[in-house]
Amino acid sequence: MAEWNEIFNEEKYIKKIPESIIMNFIEFLERKFSERPLKILDFLCGGGRHTIAAAQRGHSVFGFDKSENGIQFTKSQLKELGLMAEFSIGDMTELPEKPAFFHGGFSWDALHHNTIKNIKITVEKIKHNIKPGGYFLCNLLSTKSDSRGNGNEIEPETFIKEDGLEAGVMHHYFDEEEILDLFNDWEIIYLNEQINRYVKRTYEGFNTNPFPYTKWMILAMVPGSTSPHKEF
Ligand SMILES: C[S@@+](CC[C@H](N)C(=O)[O-])C[C@H]1O[C@@H](n2cnc3c(N)ncnc32)[C@H](O)[C@@H]1O
Repeated sequence: MAEWNEIFNEEKYIKKIPESIIMNFIEFLERKFSERPLKILDFLCGGGRHTIAAAQRGHSVFGFDKSENGIQFTKSQLKELGLMAEFSIGDMTELPEKPAFFHGGFSWDALHHNTIKNIKITVEKIKHNIKPGGYFLCNLLSTKSDSRGNGNEIEPETFIKEDGLEAGVMHHYFDEEEILDLFNDWEIIYLNEQINRYVKRTYEGFNTNPFPYTKWMILAMVPGSTSPHKEF
């Protein structure tokens, strides 16, 4: 196997159930902002489980990913449901410019798939596209993850896996200092590291483990405020 587009050739590898944290984040945005529909960025949307979930709540979603197969799958699911969303295909560093457009964005299990230089460029572009006072939620692999070290290290803490389902896929692992540096010009609302220790692990086709690796979760706000915030 190599690269996500090929992985998504097999539908069994496309996750369809949204993460509860993303649903909670969408609800958080709904409480924060009174405009409707909310403009939401699903960054590196994959097979679109969160794009679909946000569209089902009536929001205007922009999904971005480099996998045509993932986006095609999402479009077909949306069509079946009578829903719509906007999409663009490209490398994460090529997010189209939509200055201060989104109320919020999220990127789940994906933003670490690049070199640190490219991830920095990417986060800067995401920030540019989110309104001042808008929010971004993501998770990132931690240097404490037991998957760290698998594959060929092409720069400090960036590995290209050489075997398994993700052979050919790049993974960067973050320590706290690097996360703080990455979100240096955001206001960090929430930063936590979920430490995961395996006592026993056999997959047997069960890939719905909510915490497969030690990861960071970051909720950050673009400093400033242009939208009327609702009271909690
Ligand atoms: C594990 S999947 C997660 C998909 C989705 N966020 C979800 O939660 O279901 C990782 C996604 O990142 C995308 N991806 C990885 N590297 C990328 C890159 N450099 N540019 C654009 N998309 C990338 C893949 O195509 C894939 O859809």
